[in-house]
Amino acid sequence: MLKKELENEGTGHDWWHIERVTNLANRIADEENADPFICTMSALLHDLADEKLNESEEAGLKRVKNWLDDLKIPQLQQEHILYIIKTISYKGGQGPKLTSLEAKVVQDADRLDAIGAIGIARCFTYAGSKGNLIHHPDVEPREGMTKEEYSKRDGTAINHFYEKLLKLKDLMNTRTGYNIAKERHNMMKQFLAEFFDEWSGKK
Ligand code: ADP
Ligand code: NI
Repeated sequence: MLKKELENEGTGHDWWHIERVTNLANRIADEENADPFICTMSALLHDLADEKLNESEEAGLKRVKNWLDDLKIPQLQQEHILYIIKTISYKGGQGPKLTSLEAKVVQDADRLDAIGAIGIARCFTYAGSKGNLIHHPDVEPREGMTKEEYSKRDGTAINHFYEKLLKLKDLMNTRTGYNIAKERHNMMKQFLAEFFDEWSGKK
């Protein structure tokens, strides 16, 4: 029911990202003994409050709150879900320390969807949509970007690996998330090695 309603949102936001994050969150929740209902609801709604899709973060959170009211979710659970949605976003990696296990699970799931084969695909699609280059040998990756710098979304696709994607493995909150991240991380490193060999004509 929720999927159908979300699909009809018409915001152009990618439902399949939501579905992948929800599946991963469930898998991690199971292994980490986190509350599956809170993880599922937060994963499903985690991008609905995004600033990119709403007038403001406030307006976005209000929208999520209305959803939860409509679904008659008890107050305590609503607060937990809203806390998770508010705190897990990447924003340059300088978010607050998470205090709930379920927030850690959903953040790991969201970050895992930015790495590995799916992450590579998303990165190039995103760069393409912004008109950014695949790669420019003279443009160095930026270190320690602020939230503002990150939200400009400029730079090359390849630099995005160094500015964000290769950092996500060590930012995992849970053991389960870390184990999944390790494999995806190695895959990206292999991809980059191959990319540079082809770029220079070595392969
Ligand atoms: P999230 O959904 O985790 O909050 P973002 O909104 O920051 O993530 O990014 C959405 C997707 O686009 C992610 O896969 C991310 O890696 C990718 N992305 C974000 N910024 C850039 C960029 N400047 N260049 C290439 N890909 C990007
Ligand atoms: Ni997301």
